[in-house]
Formats: sequence, structure tokens, C-alpha cells
Amino acid sequence: MSYNYLNVLMLGDIIGMPGVKQIFLKLAELKKKEKINLVIANCENSDEGFGVTEENITTFKNYGIDVLTSGNHIWSNDNASDLLNKYDFVLRPANYPNAAGKGYWMGDICGITVGVVNLLGRYFMIPVDCPFQTLSKLLKKEIKKCSVIIVDFHAEYFQEKITFAYDFDGQITLLFGTHTHVQTADEMILPKGTGYITDIGLCGGLDSIIGMKKEEVLEKMINQIIVPYIPSEENCVMQGIIARIDTVSKKVIEIKRISI
Ligand SMILES: [Fe+2]
Ligand SMILES: [Fe+2]
Repeated sequence: MSYNYLNVLMLGDIIGMPGVKQIFLKLAELKKKEKINLVIANCENSDEGFGVTEENITTFKNYGIDVLTSGNHIWSNDNASDLLNKYDFVLRPANYPNAAGKGYWMGDICGITVGVVNLLGRYFMIPVDCPFQTLSKLLKKEIKKCSVIIVDFHAEYFQEKITFAYDFDGQITLLFGTHTHVQTADEMILPKGTGYITDIGLCGGLDSIIGMKKEEVLEKMINQIIVPYIPSEENCVMQGIIARIDTVSKKVIEIKRISI
């Protein structure tokens, strides 16, 4: 285990059983190879593409994931609120006005108090509370004592994500985007030291339309018919980023995209 750097692995939205299988097949080896200290993954699409089950949650924990973030699809299963109340490492976006569970997690990783926050964007999405105000409040109170703060900003619109990152540049350690399921090639360190990437991608079938079998998505988009989506099993990958955080300065010194 490296103590010069805190190595954090963040995995994109896990899309159904093909995505779960990728975690089973690849996570342990990657953790060992990259000396990973903390694993964060977005679980909102784990259960056949929508939501998360208790079995998913315990499976992910057994596979070595420490914190599960989510997004707009976390509510797809009837017992979502019960699961969020039961497991404190499973997050829903913090800016839902009045929901079960929590939008942040705190833990001691290698002697460093790390905070993980989950937020939802508002452009081309549902009108939740203001993510800017929500994070400002959390930084002043609930997660004030954290010296490393990592945010999963689950949002559709690139401009909202990068604007959000610039607004909190220097106040948070790293912001990664999720929800579009498409990995972007814009990882960077902003002027005041915050690490950033618009979207870390997906865990599941890459030969797909955002992780789903193409036929059903085509049917829906072309004919405007409601068709159930099915997770793709073709050309499966595990995508995300690894951030190396200096344990003295608490700043990101490197962001590396992975797609394996
Ligand atoms: Fe998603
Ligand atoms: Fe989403």
C-alpha cells in the first residue's frame, strides 16, 4: 500500500449483469496493480439497467467497492429508500429535496478523512434542489472536516458539469461526471488544483447505445414507442479513472482514464 499517494479508483455506471461481471473479472487485479486505496462506483443501472438491489450492493462490497454513488435511476426499485437508509455507503444525489438516505459519505482512508458527495445536475434532468447551494452547505457543515473531497456529479449537460467544477475549483479535490455512460477524453487539473473529467464512462457492453442493446433503443427513438431496454453483453469493458492524490498537499497530481 502506498502512503505517498492516495490512489482512488472511480468506476462508471454499472449497466446490468454484464457490468457486474466486469467488476467480478477485473476489479481485484486492477486494485492490486494500481495500489488502489479507495473504490467508488456508480450503481444506478446495476439491476438490469435500472436501479440497484440489495444483492447488487452486497456483491459490490464483496468485490471490493467501498462507496456506491447513484443518480436519477436510484429510485427504480420499490425498496430503494429502505436500502439507502440501511447502507450508509450507498448514496443518492444530495440535492433531492426530501429523500431517504444520504448524499455524502465520510471515511478514514490511510489516515486521511475522505468525503464522497453525490449530486444531480438540473439541465435536461428533473428539477431538484440547486447543486451549487447544496455542495456549499455540505462544505460548511457536514463534510467540513474532510481533507479530501470527491464529487460524483451525475448530470447530462457538459456545460453544467464544467461550470460546476470551476465554481468549486480549489474547494474540492476532484469532480467526476457520470450519467451519460460515454467516457470523455477531457481529464484535467483545473487552475486551483481540482481534478476534473466530464464523464468516466460505463461498466458493461460498449457495443450498444449507452450500455443498452441497440434494437430496443432504435425502436424507441425512431417510433416513440415505450420499449424496455436490455443491457448489452457485447464488447464489455470496465471504465473509469484512477486519481493519484498527494497525501501531503491533498491535491490530485494525476488522473488516468481506464477502459479495460
Ligand atoms: Fe446511468
Ligand atoms: Fe443517470
